[in-house]
Amino acid sequence: MTDTRHSLPRVTKAVVPAAGLGTRFLPATKATPKEMLPIVDKPAIQYVVEEAVDAGLNDVLMVTGRSKRSIEDHFDRAYELEEALRAKDDTERLRSVRESSELAQVHYVRQGEPRGLGHAVLCADAHVAGEPFAVLLGDDLIGASEGLLKRMIDVQAERGGSVVALMEVEPEQVSLYGCAAIESTDDPDVVRVTDLVEKPPQESAPSRWAIIGRYVCAPEVFGVLRDTPPGRGGEIQLTDALRELAGRRPDQGGPVHGVLFRGQRYDTGNRLDYLRTVVEFACARPDLAAEFVPWLREFAAAQDPGDLPG
Ligand code: UTP
Repeated sequence: MTDTRHSLPRVTKAVVPAAGLGTRFLPATKATPKEMLPIVDKPAIQYVVEEAVDAGLNDVLMVTGRSKRSIEDHFDRAYELEEALRAKDDTERLRSVRESSELAQVHYVRQGEPRGLGHAVLCADAHVAGEPFAVLLGDDLIGASEGLLKRMIDVQAERGGSVVALMEVEPEQVSLYGCAAIESTDDPDVVRVTDLVEKPPQESAPSRWAIIGRYVCAPEVFGVLRDTPPGRGGEIQLTDALRELAGRRPDQGGPVHGVLFRGQRYDTGNRLDYLRTVVEFACARPDLAAEFVPWLREFAAAQDPGDLPG
């Protein structure tokens, strides 16, 4: 598809890397992908696919690996279950079971060895076939009303190159993220990225603007990833490849812009954030909040800081 204003190809495909080991969530993630952990009653990765579809991308490529079969089953039909629900006239549950299989056109590629996010993205090369594409991390949730991905796709269509999502974090948190050096543009929510560093120490971080799990990448990223040596943690880092593109001319895959994001974001691969996410989502659910919120209030009020374990 072509954007008539600027004749740049417009993003039509989403890549969802979900092949990581999820070590921060062991032992739960020994045989279950962390992307399948439920946020109330829906796996995290379904929210991610819904976000891609809401942004107009219904071609979704999942990058999966060992122990990730349940992701494929979740986005497929489940005939026996559907038959059982139909026999009981349980139309509401039948609808919820079918929903995930009808959401998008889901494709799969396996990353034989989890060699890092950059390597996972590289596995999408053949499917993406030379167009800019979106990357949504399978364990990173963005508030449904935020419209972040749509904005990133628009910025990419207007300015070309690649686009990252940036969120301002506390100084002591920058070492957990990829971090960007930025310059302002004529758009208040868009910056030019001049440098990127993966997980910098607090003292040498170029800013407090951290990369969160949404990207729109120029197809030139694949060539760069192929030449990117393993970086931090021995993994091929997407941040390192984008850093290279940030210094390039538009005819060579540059530049990189950032969309400044000030909304809600949940890292469900982190245990504490996961717990907060489940509680927040439950409090926002009309079918649960009336019972859950008063219980939560009472429970929290009864917690005496002196009784905390450990
Ligand atoms: P994380 O940085 O959260 O790494 O990956 P991880 O290995 O999954 O988890 P921990 O740190 O061991 O707990 C961010 C996203 O990139 C995917 C993950 O599945 C997650 O969605 N990923 C990461 C891959 O697909 N392949 C990899 O080699 C690494």
